[in-house]
Amino acid sequence: LAEYRLIVVSNRQPYAFRIENGQLVGEMPPGGLTAAIDPLMRACGGTWIAQSGGEADLTAMDADGRVAVPLGSPAYNLRLLNLTEAENNGYYYGFSNEGLWPLCHIAYTEPVFDAQNYETYKAVNRKFANLVVDEIGDQPAIVLVQDYHLALLPRYIRQVCEDVIIGQFWHIPWPNPDILRICPWQEEILDGMLGNDLLGFHLAGDCHNFLDCVQRNLDAQVEPQFGLVDYQNDMTLVRPFPISIDFDGLDAEARSPEVESEMARLTQEFGLDHGRILGLGIDRQDYTKGIPHRLRAVERFLEKWPEYQGRLVFLQAGATSRTNIDSYMQLTIDIESTVNRINERFGDGNWQPIAYWPTSFPSATFSALRRLASFCAESSLHDGMNLVAKEYVASRVDEDGVLILSAFAGASQELSSSIIINPYATEQFADAIHQALTMSDEERRLRMRHMRSIVQENNIYNWAGRIMMNLMQASTPDHARL
Ligand code: G6P
Repeated sequence: LAEYRLIVVSNRQPYAFRIENGQLVGEMPPGGLTAAIDPLMRACGGTWIAQSGGEADLTAMDADGRVAVPLGSPAYNLRLLNLTEAENNGYYYGFSNEGLWPLCHIAYTEPVFDAQNYETYKAVNRKFANLVVDEIGDQPAIVLVQDYHLALLPRYIRQVCEDVIIGQFWHIPWPNPDILRICPWQEEILDGMLGNDLLGFHLAGDCHNFLDCVQRNLDAQVEPQFGLVDYQNDMTLVRPFPISIDFDGLDAEARSPEVESEMARLTQEFGLDHGRILGLGIDRQDYTKGIPHRLRAVERFLEKWPEYQGRLVFLQAGATSRTNIDSYMQLTIDIESTVNRINERFGDGNWQPIAYWPTSFPSATFSALRRLASFCAESSLHDGMNLVAKEYVASRVDEDGVLILSAFAGASQELSSSIIINPYATEQFADAIHQALTMSDEERRLRMRHMRSIVQENNIYNWAGRIMMNLMQASTPDHARL
């Protein structure tokens, strides 16, 4: 890799800057992507291009939009692209999150395909391409493109730099051809993504869907058995890479004194030292996560097993998201009214069944909550992977706790020792909560041990390494039938 210049492109920046006591601070946001790629960038150097996210960026960056990161011990460059409000509305909120996001997730939210938003999406993808091309100069380079915000970027780069090695990871599901047809610009999107040498999805099913879409829509040779597309004399290798987490990092954090003291505080706060039981849901507030479905299952559980009234507290935590979009605002309203209804129905002066914390917390607090929760319920209606499920497993250093996981989350393929549920089937979901709370110690331990060994093995470093290896393979002639 040493001879290549490494360039990563994503919409979100890996360090969010703020000014604290007059000092510039850069904090890595939680989430697998940054945790996986930051070590790679630190080792190889290079440039990470992303949209600028806030006021403090102006203090952080030089005239070209560059910041050497991590602050204090710089190892690579961050290059920030400033977008106007109108650009962000059309490209990020509009086409990416009102169009592609619901299109790729089966969550029954109608995608909005507005021609003006698509024009802006194209224009912003071009802006990213210009920065990438500028960074490449005349050196050999590898470009790693992240996610659905940048579907056209690989083609735009390829049009200028024929020899550059380009890989893209699509962090959300890919739909089948009948669903993709809803998008008026499906051919252009597919063409854009076939500018890659390597295209990664979470699951084999996503790869098959993508290959079917290419076969149906473009004049391309598809070889499904090799995951290969031959299009306009260029090859793209399409492969699954289930994303993961920094298992060892989370395991170590869960054992730290900071987390232990958070556990002591939260034990008191929830009355866990007085016989109360904690159930947990953590999500970025998104309609794909099945949060109202989960709350309805808790309600049904309390109805069916009234002996848990006064004992079980279910905490729904995690920040609101994409709040400019109507469907997200509506979701927050729905969640709040469901929480209030359930609390009014069952709660009293001493006990409320649902605790609702719609904000973000330091990672030590989330670790402590994961360690304390008798069960964690992840009920996505459709999810590329769902890292919260893996994080729960990594934090359970005591090999205890039960994971209840939606069959529609990619993670359910690896975490088969969880209790797998259909989030739409409230009765079955309520029964799963009961099963979790009445399971024998031995069974809990066996299941958790099994899941921990899987996540420890398929960790985020392994994911990044496999992508890099496949990318090198994809970029050599005659590669991909190997
Ligand atoms: C998903 C996407 C990411 C995105 C994240 C948070 O996981 O795959 O690309 O960064 O959601 O969403 P946001 O819109 O806040 O970046």
